[in-house]
Amino acid sequence: MIYRRLGDTNEEIPAIGLGTWEIGGRETPDYSKDREQIDVIVRAIEMGYSHIDTAEYYAGGHTEEIIGDAIGLFDRSELFITSKVWPSHLRRNELHKALDDSLKRLKTDYVDLYLIHWPNPDIPLQETLEAMSQEVESGRIRFIGVSNFDVDLLKKAVSISPKPIVNNQVLFNIEDRQAMYELLPLCQKEGITLTAYSPLKRNLLSNSSKEILEGMAKKYYASTQQIMLAWLLSKDGVVVIPKASKIDHLKSNMDSRNIALSHEDLKLLDDLS
Ligand SMILES: NC(=O)c1ccc[n+]([C@@H]2O[C@H](COP(=O)([O-])OP(=O)(O)OC[C@H]3O[C@@H](n4cnc5c(N)ncnc54)[C@H](OP(=O)(O)O)[C@@H]3O)[C@@H](O)[C@H]2O)c1
Repeated sequence: MIYRRLGDTNEEIPAIGLGTWEIGGRETPDYSKDREQIDVIVRAIEMGYSHIDTAEYYAGGHTEEIIGDAIGLFDRSELFITSKVWPSHLRRNELHKALDDSLKRLKTDYVDLYLIHWPNPDIPLQETLEAMSQEVESGRIRFIGVSNFDVDLLKKAVSISPKPIVNNQVLFNIEDRQAMYELLPLCQKEGITLTAYSPLKRNLLSNSSKEILEGMAKKYYASTQQIMLAWLLSKDGVVVIPKASKIDHLKSNMDSRNIALSHEDLKLLDDLS
């Protein structure tokens, strides 16, 4: 596994984490494949996925329940679990309750990283960040961060948060690369880890990107998905959280850490528009 420093802290986190959207349902719970999905997460952890990303929103909380069942078989201190609070729970009391509920579902005493899932302009950011910081003091959260924050909002969060913002989780893949221009340089300057979500673009690439990636994949004896992940991982301060529920996908994504793209190929991918 390769590790990246988390924000400006002394913590190192695995650069390849496991995404969990659609595990256990989408917006609502689907209990029909629980056994299978717990097994997938167990297999993933055995394979080295010690960094798991989830959210209270996923499957109406059921994704966290599935993760809770899987992680119970492992040493909790070896795992790095991220969860996110939904924008309707950003008032102080709502946030404390949302965290309570997430911890119950995850069957753990703490989350390693807790993120504001999406900004909510109707609730003062200061109030939310104070509530999150309080939970760092209480030991139920180790580190705090945000998700889907643009440059201006991230700057604001950094300037008013009582505890450091160590992470911004945003959409970033070979085609959705808005984050690369201003947000990533800001994160690198401020010592904030950038987590790339949907790093495989949910397999919905355009034909033109596919063609370029397929050519490169042949050259590196790799898959197009591995090239996509290797490109993201080549960037300072970036970690990726591909979601996979097939064992061969989990293995293949993990192996992307071994692909070192040449400077020319990195430039070619950087310059794609
Ligand atoms: N903060 C936010 O607002 C936000 C938004 C979206 C996502 N996220 C997080 O980011 C995670 C990842 O993003 P995502 O789930 O949107 O999309 P993604 O990781 O880009 O793509 C997931 C899809 O790719 C497939 N896949 C995975 N590895 C593959 C491989 N090696 N070869 C071929 N197909 C492969 C998966 O199939 P199988 O499942 O069949 O293996 C799944 O259908 C989420 O699960 C979630 O944790 C956060």
